[in-house]
Amino acid sequence: SATTITVIPGDGIGPDIVDATLKVLDKAGCQFDYEFADAGLTALEKHGELVPQQTLDLIEKNKVALKGPLTTPIGDGFTSINVSLRKTFNLYANVRPVLSLKGTRARYENVDIITIRENTEGMYSGAGQTVSADGQTAEAMSIITRDGAERICEFAYQLARKEGRKKVTAVHKANIMKSTSGLFLKVAREVAERYPEIESQEMIVDATCMKLVMDPSQFDVIVTTNLFGDILSDLCAGLIGGLGLAPGANIGQEAAIFEAVHGSAPDIAGQDLANPTALILAAVQMLEYLGLAEQAGKIRNAVRDTIAAGECVTRDLGGNAGTQAFTDAILARL
Ligand code: NAI
Ligand code: MG
Repeated sequence: SATTITVIPGDGIGPDIVDATLKVLDKAGCQFDYEFADAGLTALEKHGELVPQQTLDLIEKNKVALKGPLTTPIGDGFTSINVSLRKTFNLYANVRPVLSLKGTRARYENVDIITIRENTEGMYSGAGQTVSADGQTAEAMSIITRDGAERICEFAYQLARKEGRKKVTAVHKANIMKSTSGLFLKVAREVAERYPEIESQEMIVDATCMKLVMDPSQFDVIVTTNLFGDILSDLCAGLIGGLGLAPGANIGQEAAIFEAVHGSAPDIAGQDLANPTALILAAVQMLEYLGLAEQAGKIRNAVRDTIAAGECVTRDLGGNAGTQAFTDAILARL
């Protein structure tokens, strides 16, 4: 029987880019069943909750989800939906590849970096967030565990080995954040020893930013803690031409959620302006995760060739095509 995938159209540009992505999957010959679920503002309006229980149940049942971006309302009482999904399903590895594509407005042509971001702890663990009664002092706790650091470093090296990658760079700030980043670095060194065939490097986060901008070709796989990974992966998206091109996978033992790195882009929602590439490439990651390398390759090539041809691309890539016309151009190549 066909694999069933939970699809969350999401907010803002979400429904449009999800629709584009499902068309591309169909055209590439993927035979999935889809079960649709609400989350985000859309869910709040329909069901009175940001993440309804039935959505959680569907993610748990089907194990694989494709998710549009979600708007987290600003204000007290709303914790980020993405953070809570990652925690609920223990999606500890956030895999964010960036690969140069011809025909973009990127500054570089030779970028091929995968950032592996620890997704459940560190500065985003949410623990100990307090503001003093007089409003003068705010606190938050960063938590790094040996198990958490070990499983993310193992994940990075396993991925490097599987994909024939040459180098893993552990990014940290252990010189200042001696306890937390110090433990992460210590564990990263231990794990590195288990993979002698892969070159291991360690780098302080601020220097990493500078080096990424000066010469991204020196990077291969980056593994790092939650906050640094969030920031570095957006930086990496900028190296290849922007958020419209950067996919991400949230992977755990029991489930995986595939999404774009960008958000719901309220400024361009409902105007047929969104670039669906990031979510389509997230679907490619999903196909690879499911072992469907052939369809993944087909879609990747169709996207690459459509952007390289340049006649029918979205505005963020320097063209004037809408989401639908750009998607049609990809479908035509498939
Ligand atoms: P954003 O990523 O939605 O937008 C940043 C800028 O990039 C905007 O100018 C937008 O128009 C542009 N952009 C983003 N995706 C694009 C695409 N596919 N094609 C063309 N242009 C694109 O970030 P922002 O504005 O900070 O956040 C908006 C909302 O999204 C917030 O509520 C935030 O919480 C949420 N968000 C959700 C994420 C998720 O669900 N994974 C991730 C990041 C933000
Ligand atoms: Mg981010």
